[in-house]
Amino acid sequence: MSLLTYEDRPVDIAPGETVLEALLRAGIDAPSSCRTGNCQTCMHRVVAGTPPEDSQSGLTEAQKAIGLFLPCICKPKAPLTIVSRDDAGASIDAVVHSIERVSHDIVRLRVEAEKFEYRPGQFLELIAGADLKRHYSLASHPEDDPYLEMHIRLHENGRMSRRLTEALEPGHRLHVAGPSGTCFYEGVDAEQPLVLIGAGTGLAPLYGVLRDALKRGHRGPIRLYHGARDSRGLYLRDELEVLAAARDNLVYRPCALDLNAPLGGDVAALALDAETEFEHSAFFLCGGVNLVNRLKHELFMRGASLRSIRFDAFIPAG
Ligand code: FES
Repeated sequence: MSLLTYEDRPVDIAPGETVLEALLRAGIDAPSSCRTGNCQTCMHRVVAGTPPEDSQSGLTEAQKAIGLFLPCICKPKAPLTIVSRDDAGASIDAVVHSIERVSHDIVRLRVEAEKFEYRPGQFLELIAGADLKRHYSLASHPEDDPYLEMHIRLHENGRMSRRLTEALEPGHRLHVAGPSGTCFYEGVDAEQPLVLIGAGTGLAPLYGVLRDALKRGHRGPIRLYHGARDSRGLYLRDELEVLAAARDNLVYRPCALDLNAPLGGDVAALALDAETEFEHSAFFLCGGVNLVNRLKHELFMRGASLRSIRFDAFIPAG
């Protein structure tokens, strides 16, 4: 067996050569910059085998957990099969389990797919046609749910939105690929404060992370902030209030721009005002790119380490 396989292609690697050198010598267009393990430009993902420990230096626990490594400083001693970092893999069949509105413009789609392994909070690619593909985060838990659950905002005239609302019914076939992303609970210290901040359907990955944290017995305080443009967008509110009432260490803070204090206002401002333990908390940020970037900056300026921040930033797609 070859020491190095890229996707399904064996690649010659000479003694003492790095994976990056071998890929480039084989004519594979692998990105790189520093070639010293600092910039992470060359990052790839191992799908079979274990990367040498030093080829993951500087990566977060979440990145290590999904097999990311740095080819420019990797000299494998045992067989590795690798793919590019964003490779979602082959798509598999999925069958619609249910589709229901949870607010005026958000639907909860559940699909069943065999052998789809994921961590709650990661995202998948939903394929509803040759040119109709979107990424959605997973709110379900693989140990509890027989389906994959996504929360999807409907956009007027959006092609996927129309497909979901006009043509899709239980039993219909779709395809899914993935999972991808490092927005999952694994690797968080069970004693540290866990702070989940999101807006709109950013609740989906946070809901997955929250469920996983509770299932794994997270003992530190957990604070979930969910924001919406108006109160109709605070979907799952009843369920989350019941969950928070039953847990001593869970606080749920919904907020919307059309409500009065203490529930009114902007979710980022609410969370930043309320939080105090920036240096010791694990943060999860999910929502639009502007919100996530603003929060990352503000948290960092208040003392949070970038390594303690996991995020999933969405770009709206209909
Ligand atoms: S090229 Fe910079 S880390 Fe590999």
